[in-house]
Amino acid sequence: MLDWLIEGARLADRDGLWDVGVAGGRIALVRPSCGRETAAGRRVFAAGRLLLPGLVDAHVHTRDPGYPWKEDFGTASRAAAAGGVTTILAMPNTNPPMTGAAAIQMARREAEKKSVVSSFLVGGACASRPQAIRGMKAAGAVALDVYDDLFGAGTETWLSMFLEAKKEGLPLCFYLMDGAMERFCRERQRARGKAPWEVIAGATDAETEAASIARIFPLAAYLQAPAVIRMVSTKKAVEMIRCMKRLYPDAPVCAEACLSYLFLTREDFRRQGAAAHVHPPLRGEEDVRALWEGLFDGTLDYIASDHAPHAQEEKERPKLEDCASGIAGLEVMLPLLLDAAKRGEFGLSDLIRLCCEAPARIYGLSGKGAIGEGMDADLVLADWNGERTVPARGRFTRGAATPYAGRRLTGWPVFTMCRGRLVFGDGTPDGVEAAEAGLPPESGGKEEEGWKS
Ligand code: DOR
Repeated sequence: MLDWLIEGARLADRDGLWDVGVAGGRIALVRPSCGRETAAGRRVFAAGRLLLPGLVDAHVHTRDPGYPWKEDFGTASRAAAAGGVTTILAMPNTNPPMTGAAAIQMARREAEKKSVVSSFLVGGACASRPQAIRGMKAAGAVALDVYDDLFGAGTETWLSMFLEAKKEGLPLCFYLMDGAMERFCRERQRARGKAPWEVIAGATDAETEAASIARIFPLAAYLQAPAVIRMVSTKKAVEMIRCMKRLYPDAPVCAEACLSYLFLTREDFRRQGAAAHVHPPLRGEEDVRALWEGLFDGTLDYIASDHAPHAQEEKERPKLEDCASGIAGLEVMLPLLLDAAKRGEFGLSDLIRLCCEAPARIYGLSGKGAIGEGMDADLVLADWNGERTVPARGRFTRGAATPYAGRRLTGWPVFTMCRGRLVFGDGTPDGVEAAEAGLPPESGGKEEEGWKS
């Protein structure tokens, strides 16, 4: 017998209404809706709402272990579920940092104890200790983030990092942050008498990104070692990746776009200050357009949240340059994307490709990223009609006030299921009760200030 039968749902990539059945944590049935009786423990009447595969978010700062006042696996994963995300990749800048197998195992134990969604880990690869990469995969890592400034290191270090990562069978992920260039840009802005926000906004520029990209492709192609370029934020970087993909068609290099650079601009930073302070800094309208074009033509491969929560007091220091950088985006991920899709900015099939299928494929997460028989029952039912205002603070994240506060968005999750277990239920529509999601009574199942339809 089925555990769940979701009846009469719209699917993103198919016409008509569909029934989706779940048994043993997996999708057991996908069929056109026909009102046929099928035994199921729980039935959900989707009433034409949109049923999507849970999003796969490859860039989440869960801060666990080490920074419980910012976030932990419990709060991050509940925020994920509320934002339609059922798989997260946890970033290595924890305490201790995940720069060795033992620290990865420690984080894995925390994830197993606290996470309500599927959590995978990203190891930190240090330029000074490439051999520490060994054993990270067995410890639970699915990717490696270059943890320190590789752009300041010589070719020998680059070669050993790539080769160790390849031997380990993990993609090596780069941030386009060249420390020397960044210091240079910052000083130049200061010398020009720029305001603090402009010094930060100019701390990395398009040239920093483009120059860094030029180093990654030839080596990745030559060594046939998989790489990911994280947090692409400028038009020049998009053009450089486009050009490099053409020059090195066999380079196993993918590129990531993050929510902040798709939905916010430098103008938001100027107006909102610390709430919109992220590193690399927010860019201009032209950059935002270039990122979307890059996502449509395959230059960029997937979208992640770069959920980077900090406590309110870390965001509220007197000087802007002392305020923590990072934006908590998990809880608004699906509404931001579905709202843009509803406005016709991109299609639902783009959303599935960029936020589900591609990240699952790139990071080797089998069973994730699609609705199909035998896949993990990671599902999100979204309401595409009502609009809600984004509240200043998320319901589950410990992250500070969001720069998206006050936006009216459609596409909020009604319920989210991970491996057949309900992990988020909003109110009690269609008999789905938040209590069943294992959520604490004070945080689930009731309408809160700012969350009214
Ligand atoms: O602004 C940022 N904050 N950018 C990052 O890449 C990391 C993040 C953090 O960990 O807070």
